[in-house]
Amino acid sequence: SVGLTGTKYGCGGGGCGACTVMVSRYDPIQETVLHWSVTACLQPICSLHGAAVVTVEGIGSTKTKLHPVQERIAKAHGSQCGFCTPGMVMSMYTLLRNNPQPTTEDIRETLGGNLCRCTGYRPIIDGFKTFCNTLISCQNGDRNGKCCMENSNSHNNESDISGELFSMDNVLPLDPTQDLIFPPELLVSKPCKKAERLCFQGEKVRWISPADLKDLIKLKAEYSNAPLLVGNTTIGPKMNLKGTVHPLVLYGGSIPELRTIKWRNNGVTVGAGCSLSVLKDVLLQGIEELGPEKSRVYQALVQTLQCLASKQIRNMAVSNGAREICLSEEFFTDFGKTALRPDEILLAIDIPHSRPWEFVSAFRQAQRREFSFSIVNSGMRVTFRHDSNVVENLDIFYGGVGPTLVKARHTCKELMGRKWDEKLLVVGTQLLEEEIYVPPTAPGGQEEYRKALVLSFFFKFYMQYLSALKPFKNEVPQANHSFQVVSLPMKLQLVPETQSSNDPVGRPNVHQAALQQATGEAVYYDDIPSVKGELFVSMVTSTRAHAKIISIDASMALAMSGVVTFISAKDVPGQNRRLWFNNPEELFAEEEVICVGQIIGAIVAETREQAKRAAEQVDITYEDIQPVFFTIEEAIEHQSFFDPKRKLERGNLEEGFEKADHILEGELYMGGQEHFYMETQGLIAIPKGEAGELELYVASQHAAYTQEVVGITLGIDSNKITCHVKRLGGGFGGKVMKIASLSAIAATAAYKTGRAVRCVLEREDDMLITSGRSPFLGKYKVGYLNDGTILAADITYYSNGGCTLDESSFIMEKALLHMDNGYKIPNLRGHGLVCKTYLPSYTAFRGFGGPQGLTIIESVLHEVAARCGLPAHQVRDINMYKDEKCYTHHKQLFSPHDMVRCWNECLEKSDYTHRCLSIKQFNAHNHWKKRGISIVPLKFGIGFSKGFYNQGAALVNIYKDGSVLISHGGTEMGQGINTKAIQIASRILKVPMSSIHIKETCTGNVPNAAPSAASFGTDAVGMAVKDGCEKLMRRLEPLIKKHPQFTWQQLISLSATGFFMGPHTSVDWEKSDGNAYYYFTFGACCSEVEIDCLTGDHKNIRTDIVMDVGRSINPALDVGQVEGGFVQGIGLYTIEELQFSPEGVLLTRGPSRYKIPALCDIPPQLNVHLLRNADNPHAIYSSKGIGEPPVFFGCTLFFAIKEAIAAARRERGLSESFPFSSPATAEKIRMACEDCFTRMVGEHC
Ligand SMILES: Cc1cc2nc3c(=O)[nH]c(=O)nc-3n(C[C@H](O)[C@H](O)[C@H](O)COP(=O)(O)OP(=O)(O)OC[C@H]3O[C@@H](n4cnc5c(N)ncnc54)[C@H](O)[C@@H]3O)c2cc1C
Ligand code: FES
Ligand code: FES
Repeated sequence: SVGLTGTKYGCGGGGCGACTVMVSRYDPIQETVLHWSVTACLQPICSLHGAAVVTVEGIGSTKTKLHPVQERIAKAHGSQCGFCTPGMVMSMYTLLRNNPQPTTEDIRETLGGNLCRCTGYRPIIDGFKTFCNTLISCQNGDRNGKCCMENSNSHNNESDISGELFSMDNVLPLDPTQDLIFPPELLVSKPCKKAERLCFQGEKVRWISPADLKDLIKLKAEYSNAPLLVGNTTIGPKMNLKGTVHPLVLYGGSIPELRTIKWRNNGVTVGAGCSLSVLKDVLLQGIEELGPEKSRVYQALVQTLQCLASKQIRNMAVSNGAREICLSEEFFTDFGKTALRPDEILLAIDIPHSRPWEFVSAFRQAQRREFSFSIVNSGMRVTFRHDSNVVENLDIFYGGVGPTLVKARHTCKELMGRKWDEKLLVVGTQLLEEEIYVPPTAPGGQEEYRKALVLSFFFKFYMQYLSALKPFKNEVPQANHSFQVVSLPMKLQLVPETQSSNDPVGRPNVHQAALQQATGEAVYYDDIPSVKGELFVSMVTSTRAHAKIISIDASMALAMSGVVTFISAKDVPGQNRRLWFNNPEELFAEEEVICVGQIIGAIVAETREQAKRAAEQVDITYEDIQPVFFTIEEAIEHQSFFDPKRKLERGNLEEGFEKADHILEGELYMGGQEHFYMETQGLIAIPKGEAGELELYVASQHAAYTQEVVGITLGIDSNKITCHVKRLGGGFGGKVMKIASLSAIAATAAYKTGRAVRCVLEREDDMLITSGRSPFLGKYKVGYLNDGTILAADITYYSNGGCTLDESSFIMEKALLHMDNGYKIPNLRGHGLVCKTYLPSYTAFRGFGGPQGLTIIESVLHEVAARCGLPAHQVRDINMYKDEKCYTHHKQLFSPHDMVRCWNECLEKSDYTHRCLSIKQFNAHNHWKKRGISIVPLKFGIGFSKGFYNQGAALVNIYKDGSVLISHGGTEMGQGINTKAIQIASRILKVPMSSIHIKETCTGNVPNAAPSAASFGTDAVGMAVKDGCEKLMRRLEPLIKKHPQFTWQQLISLSATGFFMGPHTSVDWEKSDGNAYYYFTFGACCSEVEIDCLTGDHKNIRTDIVMDVGRSINPALDVGQVEGGFVQGIGLYTIEELQFSPEGVLLTRGPSRYKIPALCDIPPQLNVHLLRNADNPHAIYSSKGIGEPPVFFGCTLFFAIKEAIAAARRERGLSESFPFSSPATAEKIRMACEDCFTRMVGEHC
């Protein structure tokens, strides 16, 4: 209500960090003010009594003065869509308040809980690293820490180029004296002051903050069912997202007795109200003061705490709910339950010092290295008889193998008194295998993997102390969280010397709205203040995958407070369908549902909360229909495919196979991906009350389509519907189609009620309803020669389209059009079939089928190399297009010259040959960890293969004061399309960039625009802006010369539309013939990884990318697209895994179950090079489209992991070819590294 919209809402469950704010309190015990970063979405307002909250608006603004943190993230290009930026800023700001000279490790810890889906994190770190005392140097540097780029003979001579992506010259210095002071009126809780009980009464909840411990005990006795809330990180997500209501809440966070820390002779007692961050600080103090022997318990706990949740959550949460801290199995009785009676309170936890000959270790393996619940975790302790290797005492606990903590009681008992030797290992492993039972029904499944981890952790523990007992080189991987982010100083192509210094084209200008984004001033659709009488709409979705709707009963919901109406198909005044290239999709399911998550109706209520809760009460009865199936394999069985089925072919397959030395058949499955844009989908629909006019403020990548669908739904002409798009908090292809349906539904609600209606999807609903990238299965037959030359390849691509076609046929076409990548396979055939299943409809996602098409052919190359016993890069090289003029398999002429340059430069810059040797040596010396490296080329088609979409339009207005306003048909979603458009206009109009403004995308200004997609935004919009500006200049120049005394507007119209229509692209699918794209963007990428064969954990070590972006219009933005796309690819190929229940319910909803790359996932060394002296006659100022291609580079990690697994298998005498699908999750890596443990588990599971 105070209009502070800078703090963003991305998930509501503490899982994304977008809502980070700083909370400060006076601590009477330490007599100082303490600052904590916390996630606002979980911070109950009543807990803030006596605290000061600082949001992003409080630290600086573009109107007054920026804070250095805001300035540096913006100037370092660390803000693309900007939705994560305020949260990043506040995390960093809090760190600096506590420590003005942080280390990079401090920054890593601080930002580990802030997710960004756009930037790839590197620029954010680069910007914030400037606050560190000393910058770290790159790993190739010399012993003095000097970066290799500073060494005279390192890498190639780049003296002919220079220029940096950003400069920190003239940035504001950090001056802590300028920071906000803690409000003196809050220094009230001095110990002398007697605390009082505080009560707050809300509509549904009563909140009591007891005066002291005595009061708390009394209250707990009286209201034993009331939860005792401290950090709210367990209870909060359930209240926010599941609607759990506790009529009474007792708050334990302000009770001094629960926050005391007492050091004793043999341990420390930490009050149960101390946050995990405080606990960690206490443990670190213990480690420092007690020395290594006495602090072994503390070391193990710190290791666990480092990866547990995020800094913000650790700042809030206490250890009571933390399942990973092993107290005992008697204490933890069930999932989230303890042995405490309801009226009991935990006061403190005693943590003992370690005794001599006592060793303690903690292990955990999670889906993502940090900020992720563990799959299995373990705490183990062994005490040896003094000066011997005889086990005196042993404790082994596991989490994640049952509903609660499990102690391997029998195993421990049996092993006591034995010597710590191989026999103990063998017996112990067998006993554990028998004792620890992981039920097949365990939440999250992964039964075999969990059991393998149980044994692997024990083996690690054994090896760890074998080496502690006697001199022994233990190469078993231990947890390692060291962190460096090093990228070679970015050297950029200089603009020509002849270019005017006023001409911004080719320069790394900062994203036009970066400062507004960093200060929280940037407006997203949900930041728009409520309109008078505004209502909220919440979707009612199907819980069945395939069923007849028997009845819909909304009476309960309608009776709830604040509910205005329920809408369904019957309420649609026009047509209840969204049409896309003649394929209709129902807005509301009418008679039948065809997936879980399909929209059946919607509740319209006065508030969000009321609408959400009422939507849950709509009762729908179904009658299940057969068949129901979800996977590609099942669809093949049922022959369930959408039309059209596509084929592309060149050469003569049969002849190719005949001439081949070998024939290989295989397949690769590639899982889907959730967009996870930080801003969820939504809009505001405002009826204007006159002639049916309707305004929509909508997060759409395709405003014109949204307008069209809304018009058809309401039966109103498009000229009465105006869509406004200011900016998107990320789109990635996910805000083209479904947002049109959501808009039509909100518009129907607005139409029916005559009031403005807001729709904001919760993260979980967004993931359930809107779906993402389609999974693909590629089945191939390939014929090749002994030297790896591929003569023929026949590939059938199957994609899972879900329940409606959406964009899936075009996605399949793109996959087929990319199936040759950079390889001249003379006889090549691809069939493409889109499977119809009963899952939510898959849709466009950055790359649009390209990554899938490319990865499957890369897999073919990889397998052929493995069968030939040749290095994969050699086989890639031998098959590569190399002639000056080449034809793709769809007969499009192109020159692979720049692709080959990228490939060769990437080999050279990554030091590939030398590193292959090092990896070989590393693998020879390490049995349990292995490294792998992979390099791939890329040829990626730019533009829509549906030619008419390759158009752009713009409107350029010049005002009397000389300022310029541009409107164009593209959508700003972080990619910097507005910045590039302004650069182009500035060049032509010869006015500074600061005189040019782009307000929004609006269908009223630029009609019928194409979607911002296919990496074609700047090509189309840039050309249109150029056209508009040139028209104006043509009018202006002669007049200015002739009549210098007049002002412009007296002479001519200072408004011009610009239009661009590119040459026609199309494919004749019958003839396998056509120019599908304008041109190709090329590149090459090399990545190295290390895997832990025992757990399946992997580390991304280094990535080098050489990218051809032609003559970049803005190298900073282009590098941002390369890095951001690549990191999204890391997710696609390694950690992002969609899981469904057997009933077709998406289980991986929200950041707690679905893991996108966090800061810990980026390779410590990430080098991006833009290919120099590259040109492109086909696009504006010789630039190239770059938005989509780099996602594919994530596959280098997948293939490098495969190489590493192959090395492990080779050593174990196992076949080097093994089934392996994408994403390469920890589970798959572990189970592919077969060994005695996996075999033991396999036999018994
Ligand atoms: C985004 C996110 C990520 C997370 N990641 C991890 C992870 O990686 N690993 C992991 O193990 N956990 C993780 N957690 C869970 C987190 O560790 C727990 O939620 C936290 O430890 C609970 O502490 P709290 O103070 O916030 O609990 P609250 O929500 O305040 O309360 C939790 C429960 O404990 C009871 N309680 C609290 N204090 C006392 C007391 N003194 N005596 C008796 N009962 C008490 C309350 O009544 C309540 O039932 C994550 C949570 C979030 C939100
Ligand atoms: S919205 Fe609070 S952490 Fe995501
Ligand atoms: S800039 Fe970080 S999510 Fe978009």
